Amino acid sequence: MESQNTVTRLPRLGEPAPAFDAETTHGRLKLEDFRGSWLVLFSHPADFTPVCTTEFIAFAEIADDLQKRNVNLLGLSIDSTYSHIAWVRTIEEKFGVKIPFPIIADLNKEVATAYGMIMPGESTTETSRAVFVIDPEGVTRAMIYYPLTTGRNMDEILRLIDALRTHDEHKVATPANWRPGDKVIVPPPKTAEDAAARMSEGYECTDWFFCKKAL
Ligand code: BEZ
Repeated sequence: MESQNTVTRLPRLGEPAPAFDAETTHGRLKLEDFRGSWLVLFSHPADFTPVCTTEFIAFAEIADDLQKRNVNLLGLSIDSTYSHIAWVRTIEEKFGVKIPFPIIADLNKEVATAYGMIMPGESTTETSRAVFVIDPEGVTRAMIYYPLTTGRNMDEILRLIDALRTHDEHKVATPANWRPGDKVIVPPPKTAEDAAARMSEGYECTDWFFCKKAL
């Protein structure tokens, strides 16, 4: 028998990110509002929870670094705008940290469902710790999912954005544990002729398929 359930097509890398038009702590915001800049759309399980509080403080701490890279932050949870406002006011009062970015109040789970942020195996009432990196053309470029009990690493989010921007600008790839300033990977040759030529093209090659260069 055919399922009566509506099948949601989840985001996929390299495809347009799901559109949204959502209530936030900074008024209504649509995906199109972020055209021309990068967007880090991230979900957290719930307001007024300790791990989420540490993450919000950590996101606020990298907000300037993200702005320098033309990246906007947008949070989301299945809580009301009133709850979000109360929580960010508490964070400012108790921790001395101002939360500068908007937060979607996704009470009807519309955005969370479109982005596959809810992991029913963990919770049906809370979003997981998901991060979507959306480029200036609205394309999903990276996705990270963390469980409810593990706070995310802000250095990795910055590193990921730097790696994506480096790829876009220089058409290169970045190796494991790459940091800005490290050597990058030259895309391997795609023909036997190019492979034969690769070792004498001035790159730092260990073999024809494994060449690095400094930027
Ligand atoms: C927290 O943010 O502390 C948290 C939220 C949901 C489940 C577990 C921890």
